Amino acid sequence: MTTDIEEYCALALAPVAGTGYAALPENLLALEQELSTKERRGAVPFNKRLLIFLLKEFSLSESPWKLPKCVALLYDAQLERLQFTAANMPDSYFSFQNDPFRKDLAILLHRLIPFGAEFANPHSGIPRSLAIKGGPKQAIRFLRATAASRGTRPFLELHMHPAVKEAFHPAGLLECYEYLADFLQLNPSFRGVQSTSWFLDPNLSRISPRLVYLREVPVRCGAYILFAGEDREGKSGALATSPTRRRLYASGDYQPRLFTRIWPRAQILQRQWQQFQSSSGRE
Ligand SMILES: CC(C)(COP(=O)(O)OP(=O)(O)OC[C@H]1O[C@@H](n2cnc3c(N)ncnc32)[C@H](O)[C@@H]1OP(=O)(O)O)[C@@H](O)C(=O)NCCC(=O)NCCS
Repeated sequence: MTTDIEEYCALALAPVAGTGYAALPENLLALEQELSTKERRGAVPFNKRLLIFLLKEFSLSESPWKLPKCVALLYDAQLERLQFTAANMPDSYFSFQNDPFRKDLAILLHRLIPFGAEFANPHSGIPRSLAIKGGPKQAIRFLRATAASRGTRPFLELHMHPAVKEAFHPAGLLECYEYLADFLQLNPSFRGVQSTSWFLDPNLSRISPRLVYLREVPVRCGAYILFAGEDREGKSGALATSPTRRRLYASGDYQPRLFTRIWPRAQILQRQWQQFQSSSGRE
């Protein structure tokens, strides 16, 4: 099969259906799939070139949003990281099956915005199904959360990237909340911030007490946390790094559950976390 690498790269600039950060044009997805099965090195050389192509094409001035200076600086750091990634990561990294690579492409396509410890998809909203996932009390809290947010979209939806894992500690998260507040201040159409994770589970205070800050700080600063579902197969990431959680899962003493945080913009703009800043060092 002969595919022109430049045509492959150009496909990435076509319009995209879907609001997820990983959304890519259908033609590109289909071609990558074909290359992966038919070429000796799969789609690797194409995907490496795609990253380099998107780096060259990228322009901060094309961002559809107003970016505070701090976020513009975070983009600089990301562009540097992505140059390094293109030159140094192993072949296995450059696959559409690899979520961190999809996130890298999303950054360059303005589908993920860097906020330090987290990235945000700016095309997201709150799923209404949350209202029926946790009984009548949750239905009421869902209504309160969406009323406080004045709607269910658009929200900034947070995602982690393993490349910025070193920022995942109490002080790093407070810094992330400051960046989010700065961004929301300049972009009033956003209703707030939302995310879904196993680490928002109240049970973690028993299982992994050092992660409690990930839930407690947003809650004390006006975030609503709602039950979103069980992670029966342990695929949410909860078991990826912790021998303790793996052991408790294997013995039946821990079942990862997913919770959604809805953090209305008005509460974020109050920056109440600043009162915790003096006591925010890594354990
Ligand atoms: C979210 C994440 C970054 C948090 O990492 P973390 O702050 O290091 O916390 P973890 O509880 O995962 O720590 C894992 C191990 O690192 C070590 N560790 C972490 N923090 C430590 C600390 N302050 N002191 C000593 N050891 C520490 C421990 O050995 C711990 O294992 P244990 O639970 O058996 O004690 C990490 O869990 C992760 O990368 N998960 C996979 C991806 C994921 O889940 N993403 C979120 C999707 S919504």
